Amino acid sequence: MSVHTPDIKRVTTHTIQEMKNRGEKISCLTAYDYSMAGIVDAAGVELILVGDSASNVMAGHETTLPITIDQMIYHATSVVRAVKRALVVVDLPFGSYQGNSREALNSAIRIMKESGAHAVKLEGGLEIKDSIIRILSAGVPVMGHLGLTPQSIYKFGTYTVRAKQETEADKLIEDAKMLEDVGCFSVVLEKIPAKLTKKVSESISIPTVGIGAGPHADGQILVLHDLLGINKEFKPRFLRRYADLNGVMTDAISNYIKDVKGKSFPNEQESY
Ligand code: KIV
Repeated sequence: MSVHTPDIKRVTTHTIQEMKNRGEKISCLTAYDYSMAGIVDAAGVELILVGDSASNVMAGHETTLPITIDQMIYHATSVVRAVKRALVVVDLPFGSYQGNSREALNSAIRIMKESGAHAVKLEGGLEIKDSIIRILSAGVPVMGHLGLTPQSIYKFGTYTVRAKQETEADKLIEDAKMLEDVGCFSVVLEKIPAKLTKKVSESISIPTVGIGAGPHADGQILVLHDLLGINKEFKPRFLRRYADLNGVMTDAISNYIKDVKGKSFPNEQESY
């Protein structure tokens, strides 16, 4: 659990609602560990998501399905320890909330109690309405997630853009309205056409947060490791890389190896 720092004003679900109301964009990023979360928070993002993308980024799995609730709590606890200002949202992992609202509530309560996070995120619309309502009834803020929902990858078969057809787009709008009606504080829109994002963002009063969803969402989110250019292979069209950390890290490590082998590290000043 993070210690309250009196001179830093914490971001809450109300803060991001007020940002939407006054037309200020919301910046969001993922983080999975203490060191990175501290940097992301100090840089000033409003929302940090402990995404189940940790399954890919941290553990090297092909999908987000294998990550467990214990592993999510481990990541979330590390992030919460570092964060002084941002709102920390944690993904409920695959299998911890679908089809059983009581289990969904237990999962959300475990995450909130054991990690000290501030909210949870669930993927899906009408199919998981009961789970969302039950979690909300315990006073736990919920963020929705529509469009490309990676936990359902085996149902869809690909990671391509979603809701291009009218029927799927109409369902997404209905789902977004339902999420607002039941009391979610925000909704992630992943990989959908920019025009649809605009329509959804104008049809609901809660903030939308886009990833691969164009410029009209009320906020944007990226996976931190993608933004930093740590993974060279992942290059979707929606990704803007702000650094080449893969190159920077490889150079630094190569120089270290060279210095060790050349016996120039450690030198006299670096020795006791
Ligand atoms: O797990 C994750 O990182 C996410 C974001 C891509 C929104 O759900």
